[in-house]
Amino acid sequence: GTDGDRPFIAFVLGGPGSGKGTQCSRIASDFGFAHVSAGDLLRNEIASGTDHGEWILEIIREGRIVPSEITVELVRKAIESSSAKRVLIDGFPRCEENRIAFEKITGTEPDLVLFFDCPEDEMVKRLLSRNQGRVDDNIETIKKRLKVFESLNLPVVEYYSSRGKAHKINATGTEDEIFEAVRKLFSSLRL
Ligand code: AP5
Repeated sequence: GTDGDRPFIAFVLGGPGSGKGTQCSRIASDFGFAHVSAGDLLRNEIASGTDHGEWILEIIREGRIVPSEITVELVRKAIESSSAKRVLIDGFPRCEENRIAFEKITGTEPDLVLFFDCPEDEMVKRLLSRNQGRVDDNIETIKKRLKVFESLNLPVVEYYSSRGKAHKINATGTEDEIFEAVRKLFSSLRL
């Protein structure tokens, strides 16, 4: 259950190109979740020309992780300003530091963690063939993003697995097949 007035919170994790964003859109429309993407929040900061914008762009271009002070605050505000009863947080927490800062600042833990598990070669293939290529969708940056994912993000997945909160979804198939697996999971969790 959730504490007080806060919405039901699901963290959605997975490597770059595992299909987090794609599946989150479908979950949002079929299951009534609001979709908060950490990457989109950061790209909005860049687009709106805030003080931090140029600096964030540099970090994203290099495939590194944006400091926790910035991301945690953006995510917290997005949750606070949403009126939805259920929220998907896509691409967050990215590292143990993110996770700990979020839990400290909000005083809450997620109700559910989804982990989209996909082999590296498949993720690389998807990112390189993305239609409107992003500044970080070149092979050099993709390799860095994969390294960062493995060294910093996987420990977060392991932490939540050890607490029985993370649910692994095989993210190798077609979009429809993956969404079917999500549906089954949600139905078994009565969501
Ligand atoms: P972010 O925007 O989160 O990107 P990412 O994690 O690298 O993942 P992507 O958005 O590229 O992929 P996805 O898994 O969402 O897959 P998608 O559905 O798009 O982060 C970008 C950067 O921002 C980070 O590197 C970091 O610098 C910074 N950042 C973000 N969050 C942060 C945080 N919390 N703290 C600090 N820094 C942070 O699909 C990918 C492609 O594959 C699409 O073209 C799609 O159409 C296609 N596709 C999807 N599913 C399938 C399928 N089943 N079969 C074939 N193709 C598919």
